[in-house]
Amino acid sequence: MMLLANLWSRLVTLARLLSAGLWAVASLSIGVAGAVFAGRGGAGVKAFLLQSASQRKVFAALRLLAPNLNLSQVLIKCYDNTGTVIVSRGVDVREVLDRQADFEVVYGPRMRAITGEANFFLGMQDGADYRHDTSLMQLAMRRSDVETCVAPLVRQTAARLVAAKPDRLDLPKELTRLAPAAIVTTYFGIDTMETADLISWASEMFWYLFLDLDAESALDQRALAAAKACRLGIDTAIANRKRSGAYGDDVLGRCLTLQAATPEFDDLAIRNNLIGLVIGAIPTLSKAACQALDYLLDYPDLLAKAQAAARQGDEATVGRYLLEALRFNPVNPVIYRRAVRDCVIARSTLRACTIPAGRMVLASNLSAMFDPGFTEQSDRFWPERPFGEYMLWGYGLHTCFGAEINRAALPAMLTPVLAQQNLRRAEGALGRLRLDEMNFPVEFGVTYSR
Ligand code: HEM
Repeated sequence: MMLLANLWSRLVTLARLLSAGLWAVASLSIGVAGAVFAGRGGAGVKAFLLQSASQRKVFAALRLLAPNLNLSQVLIKCYDNTGTVIVSRGVDVREVLDRQADFEVVYGPRMRAITGEANFFLGMQDGADYRHDTSLMQLAMRRSDVETCVAPLVRQTAARLVAAKPDRLDLPKELTRLAPAAIVTTYFGIDTMETADLISWASEMFWYLFLDLDAESALDQRALAAAKACRLGIDTAIANRKRSGAYGDDVLGRCLTLQAATPEFDDLAIRNNLIGLVIGAIPTLSKAACQALDYLLDYPDLLAKAQAAARQGDEATVGRYLLEALRFNPVNPVIYRRAVRDCVIARSTLRACTIPAGRMVLASNLSAMFDPGFTEQSDRFWPERPFGEYMLWGYGLHTCFGAEINRAALPAMLTPVLAQQNLRRAEGALGRLRLDEMNFPVEFGVTYSR
């Protein structure tokens, strides 16, 4: 009986893989042809393929036709590699991200350029240094802080910012960058930089580390200048705190307190760790908040349910709608690693693939979250989805250090917006999410009435 049930479930999964893949091929062909016939040429096709709805279709087609696509082209030019493998089935994505020793993180060289000397733990392979630094930072950034400090801070900041705008809000400029910046200034305790500088420096450094696929030198120079200025800002914060004689109970203060027992955690090491956290915190949270709301605004029935929860002050339910919206429209559709040696993935299956040493492997978290063989109810907007199914912020050893912060901060930030009556996009172009040259939100207007 059990065997039959298993067989049946495998057949259903296969049928869903097949139908989703074939439908995706057909609808992509129509979309690409539409962009070409509309006279928008290569730029139109590129814009079409960059939409997350199109990306979902590309990955549905890949899952069916070429689940581990091995290309000789180098798509990510900012880190050494010999070509690209795109991995789209959920189990294979998980396998790549689980096999740290075979698939390494590549960010080390650029991380060193940012800190001015040392690596940061996201750029490290698993080992003593990684465990040392993450352990110390876990003592400085306690899980319990999310409830006692971070969520209240973001909640109050967002409530104040939204209250100041009676009928319209430009999300990135007036909320989604400012609330994460408050996490850095108040919770991390790095309060020595102008907020506008902090936001643009963090975004430039983030772009340099993760998004500079073509290694564009003008923006690289800007990012390195930003890194230098940010290092100075953190040095000043450390010096001020030491001079004051009272370390305090924020992340910086706890790092300084830890120095007594761990002398190797000197000021420079503290700075290197804090700069990594600053980079991770601001542009990502802002983009996630904008993209989640952008998605909900397209679906009035979902928006209405999220708004009903927001008006009850039910952040947990709001959070579930936001996470599910982000699954459809995530900040990063792939996570990349480089093969250390020739490696076989999906061994003993028909899709087994030998990945040559040096290949950059794009493990698609977006695809995994829509793979019917990996994620339950993958096509459905399902706010009750268990949190563990989300791969929005990575998987395995390097899973986002701010994962629990994200889970609490996103609803805390957006609940006051969602609670407004008659919430809709602003008229015209202002109501469409606009990204800057680094792909971060710069303009996204909503209007509402009180
Ligand atoms: C919604 C917002 C965020 C998104 C989408 C996001 C996404 C990610 C992803 C995908 C990774 C894994 C990268 C990889 O494996 O190559 C990661 C790691 C990391 N994130 Fe986030 N992140 C967010 C917010 C934050 C925040 C708020 C912080 C800081 C408080 C942070 C700090 C980090 C750090 C330090 C790592 C490295 C973890 C490690 O190497 O063990 N992130 N993030």
